[in-house]
Amino acid sequence: MNIAVIGSGTMGNGIAHVFAQNSFQVSLIDISQDSLNRALATIGKNLDRMVTKGTLTEDQKTQTLSRITTFTDMQAGVQNADLVVEAATENVDLKLEIFRNLDAFTKPECILASNTSSISITKIASVTQRPDKVIGMHFMNPVPVMKLVEVIRGYSTSDAVTTQILELSKQLGKIPAEANDYPGFVANRILMPMINEAIYSLFEGVAGVEEIDTIMKLGMAHPMGPLQLADFIGLDVCLSILRVLHDGFGNPKYAPCPLLVNMVQAGHKGVKSGQGFYSYT
Ligand code: CAA
Repeated sequence: MNIAVIGSGTMGNGIAHVFAQNSFQVSLIDISQDSLNRALATIGKNLDRMVTKGTLTEDQKTQTLSRITTFTDMQAGVQNADLVVEAATENVDLKLEIFRNLDAFTKPECILASNTSSISITKIASVTQRPDKVIGMHFMNPVPVMKLVEVIRGYSTSDAVTTQILELSKQLGKIPAEANDYPGFVANRILMPMINEAIYSLFEGVAGVEEIDTIMKLGMAHPMGPLQLADFIGLDVCLSILRVLHDGFGNPKYAPCPLLVNMVQAGHKGVKSGQGFYSYT
């Protein structure tokens, strides 16, 4: 089975890594050759971690890297694909444009998956002639470490395609869980209100950043506190997912905390900008 991954950012390079490590041929596609080169370097570094720990041999690392081919031309990169996983920037218009092109460039039987964290799979599917073969394959960051794949069925996704993607996720050593296509699916519908509530607790002066994170980390056995996790995900991403929930359900309980809105407007986006609830410089 040939895999094509669109987008070589954090999620895209992690997805390419996991497929290649599990013996799939992967075409990694991005508009920028620089991003592709950075992605290959990141994958190499993450494989090195595993070699150092003894969970992967040097030979397996070389084999994994040799299964990844990079492309800046999408049409060339997807023409032999049996499955495309799109992990481009989280922007509706961009994704719709990509799926229109994928529908034109891929074999008719090719499954088109999106790693979107909150954009409607049904909406994405509606711009293609194969809505039965469009599905959500939502990996978690860091992809090589996190076990979950949230598999999202759009309104028209077929049973056969869903079963195939559930099976494929298992072949990657992941544990899939199926959800239907409603705002935020399951992962972010539950995670984002928790993060938003943590930000409200800070905003209202209930406790400081470290205290909130310590309480949730040690009290609930979460690997990261909610504010550190928000920085890790990206505060702009958290804000945009909360807006999808707020718009999609029309329920004020999803309204983003004004502090989050201000921080994003000020350019404090978390780890990627060097400043969020914590400083990373
Ligand atoms: N590639 C490969 N391995 C990696 C890695 C990467 N990118 N990052 C970390 N690791 C490995 C480390 O080598 C280490 O392995 P061992 O335990 O076998 O030694 C392990 O992961 C833990 O890493 P560290 O010791 O460096 O650091 P840590 O213990 O602080 O763990 C973490 C880091 C795995 C990120 C952990 O803090 C964690 O699980 N955090 C929560 C992550 C989370 O919630 N992700 C979901 C975010 S939401 C999302 O992705 C979806 C969305 O739509 C917003």
